Amino acid sequence: MIDLIVRRARVIGSDSNALVDISVDNGRFTAIIPSAIDAAAAEDSGAAQARTTIDAGGALISAPFVEPHVHLDATLTAGEPRWNESGTLWEGIACWTERKPLLTRDDVVARSEEVLRWYAANGALHVRSHVDVTDPDLVALDALLEVRDRVRDVIGLQLVAFPQEGICSFPQGAELLEEAARRGVDAIGAIPHFEDTREDGVRSVEIAIDIAERYGLQVDAHCDEIDDEQSRFIEVLATQAHRTGLRDRVTASHTTAMGSYNAAYSYKLQRIIARSGINIVCNPIVNLHLQGRFDSYPKRRGLTQVKELLAAGVNVAFGHDDIMDPWYPMGTANPISVAFVGAHATQLTSPAEVAECFRMITDRPAAVLGLSAEYGIAVGRPASFVILPAADPFDVIRRQVRPTHVVAHGALIATAPAAVSTLRWPGRDVEEINFVRKQDAVDWAAG
Ligand code: FE2
Repeated sequence: MIDLIVRRARVIGSDSNALVDISVDNGRFTAIIPSAIDAAAAEDSGAAQARTTIDAGGALISAPFVEPHVHLDATLTAGEPRWNESGTLWEGIACWTERKPLLTRDDVVARSEEVLRWYAANGALHVRSHVDVTDPDLVALDALLEVRDRVRDVIGLQLVAFPQEGICSFPQGAELLEEAARRGVDAIGAIPHFEDTREDGVRSVEIAIDIAERYGLQVDAHCDEIDDEQSRFIEVLATQAHRTGLRDRVTASHTTAMGSYNAAYSYKLQRIIARSGINIVCNPIVNLHLQGRFDSYPKRRGLTQVKELLAAGVNVAFGHDDIMDPWYPMGTANPISVAFVGAHATQLTSPAEVAECFRMITDRPAAVLGLSAEYGIAVGRPASFVILPAADPFDVIRRQVRPTHVVAHGALIATAPAAVSTLRWPGRDVEEINFVRKQDAVDWAAG
């Protein structure tokens, strides 16, 4: 008897829409075969038996969601010790600088694990978190290194050493960054637009690249997260990635200044970014909230050039960034809501573009994290996946469909009823409403 079978599922992104049965044993996919006509027939036929059987009823099966950008050390600290009243990035940093001396190991572990449980329930089983290393005691770093091990059976957690207060502009900034590399982070960060001078910004990128090269790590820099069209560190980061050969092991997060660049410079830049092979992470919810705060009208959206970068062949992913912290007071760690907002904010709203938004919370961030052969619905790969009662990726985003089942390494870790309301309109028949058009309804949505 094997561990788990999923019957009558449709693999998202596969060419055929055919129903398949998927077998899981010892934490990995062991078979994907065409479904028997019905579950009873499958059992009668002597097909593989399992300890756990999920009848997907025609629902979609997808590789899990991937969160490429969050700050777990700061999460759930909104309002401590005070609220960010202006809503700017800069007041957020000031609030965090006041909160940071209060950090303890237990505080960081409790808050970050609470949010990781939210991620797991939402079906996000790979998470990349930045952790502030501009702290001489590296309290949050040590706590999150411990958390990375504590959650490993469910969530693959990557940590980025993030110099929130600068590499060149913070005392011992470069030394702390390298100490984080020694202690075992997965990636090196930077924040060049925050450094005191343009020259410090360029130097900070060079330092981050150098440490990453020497320790064999990835790079994920907060880059140009400002509405200043003169902030142009992305060209430095992309060129360094190109010249060192680090290429797709480098990610530029935010790059919101690109939303303010002129057309001539944008054209030049798209070539440099595409040539470099780097990834871009756009955080639509948080940057819609933080950027444009110094504008009157017209007021900028403050997002990077997502549509243009995708057209240029650049790998772009959507991230959440902040969850109830000094920079953003809301959030539920749900990648679907990020994709929903991202589709609107970046005007990716044609059917093909909305489907692309789904890829921007699955395949594309998986590439950012370098997951490659450890990710996806295929025999031999880790059996981590979600079941989504929806017609297709467009439908998942439109109705913001939550997973009914979340499986991590072969273990069913979360279940949720499909969302449905019972409508009792006076004088009419009682009706189940799940926001699927009747003409589109199939098994899972028959109501
Ligand atoms: Fe961030």
